[in-house]
Amino acid sequence: MSATRTSDEGAAGSAPAAPFDPRVVRADFPIFATAREKPLVYLDSAATSQKPRAVLDAMDRYYATCNANIHRGVYRIAEEATTLYEDARRRVAVFLNAASPREIIFTRNSTEAINLVAHAWGRTYLKDGDAIVLTPMEHHSNLVPWHLLAAERRIELRFIPLTGPGELDVAALPGLMADGRVKLVSFVHVSNVLGTVNPAAEITRIAHSHGATVLVDASQSAAHLPLDVRAIGADFVACTAHKMLGPTGIGMLWGRRALLEAMPPFLGGGEMIREVSLTSSKWNELPWKFEAGTMPIAEAVGLGAAIAYLQTLGMANVFAHDRELVAYGMERVAEVDGLKVLGPPADRRGGVIAFTIEGIHPHDIATVLDDDGICVRAGHHCAMPLHDALGVPASARASFHCYSLREEIDALVAGLQRARKLFPR
Ligand SMILES: Cc1ncc(COP(=O)(O)O)c(C=O)c1O
Repeated sequence: MSATRTSDEGAAGSAPAAPFDPRVVRADFPIFATAREKPLVYLDSAATSQKPRAVLDAMDRYYATCNANIHRGVYRIAEEATTLYEDARRRVAVFLNAASPREIIFTRNSTEAINLVAHAWGRTYLKDGDAIVLTPMEHHSNLVPWHLLAAERRIELRFIPLTGPGELDVAALPGLMADGRVKLVSFVHVSNVLGTVNPAAEITRIAHSHGATVLVDASQSAAHLPLDVRAIGADFVACTAHKMLGPTGIGMLWGRRALLEAMPPFLGGGEMIREVSLTSSKWNELPWKFEAGTMPIAEAVGLGAAIAYLQTLGMANVFAHDRELVAYGMERVAEVDGLKVLGPPADRRGGVIAFTIEGIHPHDIATVLDDDGICVRAGHHCAMPLHDALGVPASARASFHCYSLREEIDALVAGLQRARKLFPR
C-alpha cells in the first residue's frame, strides 16, 4: 500500500484505492522493521502516531531538493518550497472539507490552535460576565487556555455533565445556556481517555441555537475518522499532525472565514503583515495573517504526505479498523482479573482503551509491559479533571491506528496477565 499512490478522491471517508489490510499498511512504517531485542508493540498512537515512509521521504525530499524560505524568494527553489507548503494547505482543506484553503491556519499543534482562538477571538469578544461551556473530558489543552482567560476577566466556566458510562449528557446543554451568557462552547470530538465519540453536530446545533460560537478539539478524531467541518457546522476546529501520521511541530486551525477575517492576529512578526511603519502595521490577508515568522515548512510538506496517505487508506476504513480492534481489545482485556475499562461500549468509542487494574499502579502496568516491548501510556493523559471525575488517580491506556494488529492486543493481554501474577490481589 505504497503511499506514493496518492488520491484526493472523496477527502474524508473516501473509498480506498485498495482493500484495507493492516499488515500491508504496517509494512509502510519503517519503525516496525527496525531491529530490536523484542518486536515493537506500539499501543500509544493516541499520544503520537508512527510515520509512514512516504512522510519521511517527502520531508527528506524537500530538504534535499528545494529547501528555501517560503513566500519570500523569487528564485526557483523558493517558489517550489512555497508551492509545496501551500499544496499542503490545499490538501488539509480538502481533507477537512473546508470551503477554502484560506480557512486553514497552520500552527504548531492543536494546543496552539486553541490558544490562537483564546487570544485572538476570546480576548476580542469575551467580556466580564460571559460564560464558556466546556466538558469534564477535555485534554488540558482545551481547559488551560480558558482558565487563563477566565482569570483575566470575570468569565464563568460551565461543564456539560458526564453520564455513568463516560459520555456527555447533551440534554443538559440547553439548560446550561438558558441565561444567554454562554458565548463559547468548546469540546473534544473524541476523548483521548474514554474514546467517547461526542455528537459534534448535535452539540454545535444546540450551541448555535443559543447564540454561542463553537470550537471542536479534533486532535483525536481528525486522525481516525472521516471529519467534515462543514457537516459538523462548528466555527473552529483544531487538529494536530503528529497524531495523523504526520510530523511533530505542525497543527491546524480551521475557522470560518468571516470569523477569522474579523479577528486580530495572534502573533506578530514577519510575513503576517501587509505594511509596517515604525509605529504601526497592517495585517496580511488570510491565512497568512495568523502565520507569523518562518513556519514549519518541512513539517507542512510531511503533513501533506500524511494526508495523502490517509486518503489512500480511506478514513472510513481507518475508523472501521479502530472499531474492530477496540471491540476485540475490550473483549480480551476483560479476561484480566480486576481490570476495569473506563468509558463507553466499543460501538460508541474510537480506538482507545484506558483501564485500571485493581492493586496495580498504572505506572507498574506500563513498566511490566515495557519489558515485553509493549508501549502503553500510564498516568492522567493530560486529563486530570476527567480522572478526578471518574474517581481514579490515573489509568493505563492502549490506543491504536491503521498499522495496529490483533496480535498486538494478544501480546498486551499476555503482558497484563504477567503483571497480574507479579502483583497478585
Ligand atoms: C484530545 C486532545 N486534545 C489536544 C491534544 C493536544 O495535542 P498537541 O499536544 O499536539 O497540541 C491532545 C494530545 O494528546 C489530545 O488528545
